[in-house]
Amino acid sequence: MASLIRLHEGICRCTACPLACSRHHAVPGAGPVSARAMLVGEAPGREEDELGLPFVGRSGRFLEMVLAAIGRTRAEFFITSSVKCRPPRNRQPRPGELETCNSLWLSKQVALIRPKLIVCLGRVSAQTFLGTVDLRTQHGTVIIKDRQAYFITYHPAAGMRFPKIREAMIADFSALDRILQKKQS
Ligand code: URA
Repeated sequence: MASLIRLHEGICRCTACPLACSRHHAVPGAGPVSARAMLVGEAPGREEDELGLPFVGRSGRFLEMVLAAIGRTRAEFFITSSVKCRPPRNRQPRPGELETCNSLWLSKQVALIRPKLIVCLGRVSAQTFLGTVDLRTQHGTVIIKDRQAYFITYHPAAGMRFPKIREAMIADFSALDRILQKKQS
């Protein structure tokens, strides 16, 4: 726990990439260090940047809704994003920003939490961990890489906007629930 707190203090002071210049607050992530699964999104948005907390805006409410649909709450997961600072005007994080943030922070969070499963929320998160991923054909599936299991699904912002993706996410989360139950037993 102490080491996760120290890591998060480091994230809050980080100036390693240009995103540090425009952020109000870095958003390290939140949840128990003992979490069996991590949920990893793309990048903080406006509300997250204001509060320094992950998934507290509209995407976060949608995420809570799909979790509630499988009888779970955000409290059991460690939730974070691929980059810890909001990109200006919510543009996509750039490859260099993703690489820097992964090598300095995300990979260290994973090493400390040692989740049984990393849930990649969207393409940017999936690519951060796995390189090339085709969400259309691979969503709802588990990929093992270097002895770590990853579950692929869409980003809540896409689920919120597109009814087809919303349906797919709800089905993915039912599959996720079954996988988590197996990992608990
Ligand atoms: N989208 C993300 O990927 N992360 C957040 O914290 C909020 C929205």
